[in-house]
Amino acid sequence: GAPVEVDISGIKPGEMQVFEWRGKPVWIMKRTPEQLKSLEHATPELADPESLKPYTMELPDYCKNKSNNRGHAGHEETLVLVGICPHLGCSPSNKFTPGPQPSLPDDWQGGFLCPCHGSTFDLAGRVFKNKPAPNNLDVPRYMYLSDTKILIG
Ligand code: FES
Repeated sequence: GAPVEVDISGIKPGEMQVFEWRGKPVWIMKRTPEQLKSLEHATPELADPESLKPYTMELPDYCKNKSNNRGHAGHEETLVLVGICPHLGCSPSNKFTPGPQPSLPDDWQGGFLCPCHGSTFDLAGRVFKNKPAPNNLDVPRYMYLSDTKILIG
């Protein structure tokens, strides 16, 4: 598949938009400073906090940062993920895209929740332990063409 150029200028902090690349949904979220801060310490509840397991899409070098937010060096606030659950391929829900997501409980605090079998992921797409999904959500290869344009793939 060809790389896809997307304009991220319309995404506000705390919001996410969905794009399409190779027939897959790609989520792009701009995290607030508070959301980023919440990711600074890898928690023992995460199954693979540093994304060290073997992945089909290996975490790009420019996203292997010290605070493990899995953002691009120099653009850490922006999260780019393939929005497909690594368990059996459902699309996890979130509170950052417009429109209702009925599969989320009212008291849902944040991150991503797969409606199929309950896997949960933090705001870096890292899966929590003891959930059916074995791996973190994939980060595709991408590059910044400018501060507002990203080339995915
Ligand atoms: Fe997501 Fe099973 S497909 S938890």
